[in-house]
Amino acid sequence: MSLVLRAGLIGCGGMGREHLKILASIEGVQIAGVCDSREESARSAGQDFGVPFWTDLEAFLDEAGIDALHICSPTGMHGLQGIAAAKRGIHILSEKPLDIHLDTVDALIAECDKTGALLGCIFQRRAFPAARAVYESIADGSMGKILSCSVSVKWYRSQEYYNQDSWRGTWSLDGGALANQGIHSLDQMVWLAGPVEEVEYAHLDTVAHDIEVEDFALVVVRFANGARGTIEATTCCRPDLATRVEIYGTNGSAALDDARVIRFGIGGEDRLQGLLDHGVLTGGGADPWAISLAGHQIQIADFYQAIRDKRPPMVDGREARMSVDLLDKIYRKARPGAIRGH
Ligand SMILES: NC(=O)c1ccc[n+]([C@@H]2O[C@H](COP(=O)([O-])OP(=O)(O)OC[C@H]3O[C@@H](n4cnc5c(N)ncnc54)[C@H](O)[C@@H]3O)[C@@H](O)[C@H]2O)c1
Repeated sequence: MSLVLRAGLIGCGGMGREHLKILASIEGVQIAGVCDSREESARSAGQDFGVPFWTDLEAFLDEAGIDALHICSPTGMHGLQGIAAAKRGIHILSEKPLDIHLDTVDALIAECDKTGALLGCIFQRRAFPAARAVYESIADGSMGKILSCSVSVKWYRSQEYYNQDSWRGTWSLDGGALANQGIHSLDQMVWLAGPVEEVEYAHLDTVAHDIEVEDFALVVVRFANGARGTIEATTCCRPDLATRVEIYGTNGSAALDDARVIRFGIGGEDRLQGLLDHGVLTGGGADPWAISLAGHQIQIADFYQAIRDKRPPMVDGREARMSVDLLDKIYRKARPGAIRGH
């Protein structure tokens, strides 16, 4: 391995620490420092991983000498923190979603284009070979003309989950069942079926939690290619039910339960048997930390390889923008005039 790449991370909470564990195991990458606005969180992560810590992002970016920044802070901070890194030519790997504000995502992509910083986003369900085989069958036309793609995310989060930090359940930093829990499925939807042109119907409600944002969503969409679909997302469903993506075209169909392909056929032939790996359950339906990190591992390794190869990462800025665009369209339809949560 040639050059050692220096990684930095902002947001040393639950997910930040998972990134640090993975980073510590990747060859050719050195953790150069961490940053968190809470000094205690920054210090303890710094101690645990044997690296210096900062509490101020600008100072961190100027002083730590990093090649890449992992952004694991609350969602509504990702875009502006990314822009600060991109201005310095530092590559960015953001946790999902890229931000909850579409205009900030666009500003981030534009800044990366200007300075040549690589921009990637974690959407771990795209990482697995079985899910990618379904994607390929659509991209190469084997599934025929796509007629429908629908997703269902019936998860559970307690009030205590939302109470654990002030950013959770807010319009400005989190978004609701669609933006936080459902975003993985929204991403799968636009990854497989392409961009949504119009949200035809959107009903958002807050029915079982004391939060600003939706814990119940029912949406009908029309894709740019003419296909139709529905989205159901909630954090009120106990016990949680499967996270399902179903897609069919004129020559085939597939169903994914989370990142696991459970049904896949093309032209009357069963394609599921031909796949060595049907994928994995990435988890999180009832317990946010009962998630598999196998997809993160693949995506983080891919990101550093992309820096070395000077190619886009597995999920680049424009790909990750698609689910934020869909979110924006849903929120505009259901909450006109209140898009930025003010
Ligand atoms: N890919 C996945 O499956 C997955 C799973 C969980 C979380 N996430 C994403 O990871 C991100 C973080 O989630 P989490 O559960 O780890 O949250 P968390 O609350 O545990 O951690 C957030 C951290 O950011 C820090 N922080 C807050 N404001 C900051 C600021 N201005 N500057 C620097 N640090 C700041 C907090 O002190 C905290 O340590 C979210 O965007 C979430 O959507 C992704």
